[in-house]
Amino acid sequence: MQQPDLFEPVLAAYRNVQIDDEGITNAALYQALNLVEGERKPVGRARAPHNLEHRKIRWQQQTLRRLGLLERVPGQRGRWRLTPKAQKDGALTPAPEGVALVAFSTDLGLAIWTRTETLAGKLTDQISAIITSPPYPLREARAYGNCSETEYVDFICGALEPLLKNLIAGGCIALNVSIDIFLSKSPARSMYVERLTLALHTRLNLHLIDRVVWHNPSKLLGPTYWASITRQQLNVGYEPVLIFCNDPVRCVADNRRVLQPHSKRHAQLLAAGGEARTATYGDGAFKLRPGSFGSATAGKIPKNVISIAHVSREVEKTRKQAKAHGLPVHGALMPVKLAKLLVEFLTPPGGLVLDPFGGWGSTAMACDEAGYRWIILEMMAEYAAGGGLRMSDRPGFRASFDLEGWEPPASAGRN
Ligand SMILES: C[S@@+](CC[C@H](N)C(=O)[O-])C[C@H]1O[C@@H](n2cnc3c(N)ncnc32)[C@H](O)[C@@H]1O
Repeated sequence: MQQPDLFEPVLAAYRNVQIDDEGITNAALYQALNLVEGERKPVGRARAPHNLEHRKIRWQQQTLRRLGLLERVPGQRGRWRLTPKAQKDGALTPAPEGVALVAFSTDLGLAIWTRTETLAGKLTDQISAIITSPPYPLREARAYGNCSETEYVDFICGALEPLLKNLIAGGCIALNVSIDIFLSKSPARSMYVERLTLALHTRLNLHLIDRVVWHNPSKLLGPTYWASITRQQLNVGYEPVLIFCNDPVRCVADNRRVLQPHSKRHAQLLAAGGEARTATYGDGAFKLRPGSFGSATAGKIPKNVISIAHVSREVEKTRKQAKAHGLPVHGALMPVKLAKLLVEFLTPPGGLVLDPFGGWGSTAMACDEAGYRWIILEMMAEYAAGGGLRMSDRPGFRASFDLEGWEPPASAGRN
């Protein structure tokens, strides 16, 4: 069944936050949608004060209930969950614990439907780089305490730790994380990224090489409430990519693999034999002399602010294909161009790249196109299948899941 796009953010929030049949409260739903308690306005004949954003969401909940996609959790006040029908139609099938099945493969790589924690300690291959965007940390606070950020740091450290024995000396890990996580009812950002950075250093002895800024010119406007309503925040335009290395002195990153064409101005300067002037900049830190920039170089070293839009024709095509196959659309992709830059910068030629949170396989696509070997692990069968659709024209492609008339594999269990 095709779900109306209007409801997709609400359904996606349930899919991302609902961990089991306990469902989630509306407070958790609003948080997942980045909506918080704000100004109340009088509504209806009774002129009772209501938060209009929350009201819109409650209306969507009721409509989804009538469509048979959401239901109240029996015996639990104020908790809602996806119905079995919603879970079946376009929803996600997590790999049962201990299960690992090949979803598809190409001449260069392998996509495995599994939980990272199932396979991470069992991989025997040497890994040259780990490049990934993990799931975002938002989880509902449980009655026994707020598990969200602490659990998240443990989760990421726990996922990476068993892989470190396979990582080559000087090997790198790139983590694309979100900064769009806010403290409850506050325009203050969560500092989980800082806590994660410190934990990766102190617990796993990884060293921070860089925090690359991925500027996304087509990023959706937000945080809606804090930027457009209270006006205390600017609209967010970037996400960090944290790069760590297990042995920085032997770090295998090499920017010569990602040089960009020189600008026209630089080419003219080269043709003229370099600068003709003498000048000093930055309180003497930089000196221009006649002939500076006169030697030919292979290309421009990229800056660590990378501007790439998350939308592309290729992603649009994959979305259409996924919908046509009744598969859910993946809503949190890394652009293949960004993945390719990271892969080529961080991985020696011929190396093997692992993405433990593979999604629709952007890292796999990047590796396959750039000639690197790859393994991706993805927990949701439908996303693994969507990745297969996306890569079906790559050399040597073989699908293990049957994409025509898609059914989750027989051994699939729902949590
Ligand atoms: C942000 S998405 C990655 C998207 C991917 N970079 C792409 O562009 O296609 C994170 C993915 O991790 C998957 N995931 C979450 N927990 C997982 C786990 N424990 N093991 C494996 N995959 C997991 C989610 O299903 C989701 O597809």
